[in-house]
Parts: sequence; structure tokens; C-alpha cells
Amino acid sequence: MPDTLLSINGLSAGTEDKPILHDISLTVDAGQTHVLMGPNGAGKSTLGHVIMGDPTYRVASGSITFDGTDITELSPDKRSLAGIFLSYQAPVEVPGVPLYSFLRTICQMRPELKTTARKFRQRVADICKQLDMDDSFLTRELNVGFSGGEKKKIEMLQLLLLQPKLAILDETDSGLDVDALAIVSRGIEAYRQECDGALLIITHNTRILERLDVDRTHVMVRGSLVGEGDASLIDEIDATGFGRFEEALAAKGGAN
Ligand SMILES: Nc1ncnc2c1ncn2[C@@H]1O[C@H](COP(=O)(O)OP(=O)(O)OP(=O)(O)O)[C@@H](O)[C@H]1O
Ligand SMILES: [Mg+2]
Repeated sequence: MPDTLLSINGLSAGTEDKPILHDISLTVDAGQTHVLMGPNGAGKSTLGHVIMGDPTYRVASGSITFDGTDITELSPDKRSLAGIFLSYQAPVEVPGVPLYSFLRTICQMRPELKTTARKFRQRVADICKQLDMDDSFLTRELNVGFSGGEKKKIEMLQLLLLQPKLAILDETDSGLDVDALAIVSRGIEAYRQECDGALLIITHNTRILERLDVDRTHVMVRGSLVGEGDASLIDEIDATGFGRFEEALAAKGGAN
């Protein structure tokens, strides 16, 4: 029996005045790679944020269980400590906090990642090299003034350092040039192999998936999950779009 890592049951959520997600149920087993696709505005990023506990959103019903614990009411920092990582579609800038200090602080908060300053410096240097990242980035303020592609690489650096049990990557590939895309893809592959971590990848671009074995693909339309399949579903969507899923939802008297 595989170990269930993330289990979402009948989850409905939204902002204070706008329902966005409707009756979402989804299970990710340890070490699996899942892909979430859907048209713009479907609610994919919202689902990522709700799994992470973003207080912008309110859970109206349903539950989220992670690694055997109900985390529906848990704060984002506790979810992060439990082993969930969210790479943001648009990473936030944190003025005044140098990237290196930020990385050191978050790793020191994890008993399993605590290490000496020297070993930590070496580990960071190794990952920077792996990601073809200029190590002058480390002394700059977190995400401030970095280009879109550079911010995505910084998120990969965090992913490889933190080794979470589940990484939710929200359009980590958007805006990357062809070389950066290859580097980020290799970073994700390294996370899969070195940490045996699970992935929930939100993407419109299937190139990022080329180096990965996808276990399940989910399709979200207007806040509802309307399709699920194996990796072949990605090729079908690439070829024919979301039309049949929109129609299926409409036939069911779809939400929103
Ligand atoms: N904080 C918020 N306040 C108001 N509306 C919101 C908020 N967050 C999300 N929404 C709305 O919820 C819907 C789903 O947004 P979301 O960002 O989850 O879509 P998405 O599937 O990630 O789209 P994309 O592929 O364009 O990134 C959109 O209509 C969006 O405007
Ligand atoms: Mg989004």
C-alpha cells in the first residue's frame, strides 16, 4: 500500500465574498508527481495557496490532511515545518532580508536540516552551481530587483535546500528562457531523485514535465476538478484544449 501524503476531501474555499474552489478531492501519495492543469482563472493557484494555508482564503467546508495530520486549520509556518513547500507564481519581495540569511534561518528552524555554518555554506554553493546561479545573489535582498527567471531559480534553491515532502510548483516555468527552463527542470528532477519528494505541478507548459514521470494529471475548470488521468492526458490537453472538460462541467450544471 502506498503512503498517502496529501489528502484533500470535499474542499470548498474562496475569499470572504467569492467562492472559488468547489468540492475538491485529491490524493497525492509520497514520492508521486501530480500535474494540475486548467484554463486561466480556474482556481489552480488558489488551491496551492489554500493547501499552504494562505489566510487570504477561507475554507468553507472539507478538509486537508497531510502526512496523517489534519492541517485544515494550521498556520502556513506550521504547514511549512510539516514539509509542504509552495513555489509562488509571483514570488514576493522581502526588502531588508538578504537571501543567504533567509535560507540559513529557515533551515535552522528544521531540526532535520540543522547543520554547521561551514557545511551550510558549502551546500548552498553546490546548489547554486547546480542551478547555474551567480552566488552574488546570496547577499542581495530576498527577491528584490531579481528578474522573473532569477526569482524562479531562487525558489529552486529553496526547494533543494529544504527538501520538503511535498512541493507545489505554481508555474515555476513561466517566463524562463530555454536554458533556464532546462536548469529548473534539472532542479526539479534532482529534488525528485535526491529527496524522493512528491510534486504537485501547476503548469501551462508541458516542457517542464519532459524529465519527470507523471503519475496523475488533474484538470480544473471554474473551481472544480473535472478530469483525472495518467500522463497521456497532458498530451490530449495539449492537442485539443480544455473544451471537453468545460462541456462536462456545464452538463453537470457546473459551478461558478
Ligand atoms: N485574493 C483574491 N481576491 C479576489 N479574487 C481572487 C483572489 N484570488 C483568486 N481570485 C479569483 O479566483 C479565480 C481563480 O484564480 P487563480 O489565480 O486561482 O486561477 P489560476 O487557475 O491559477 O489561473 P492562471 O492559470 O491564470 O494562473 C480568478 O477569477 C481570480 O480572479
Ligand atoms: Mg495561477
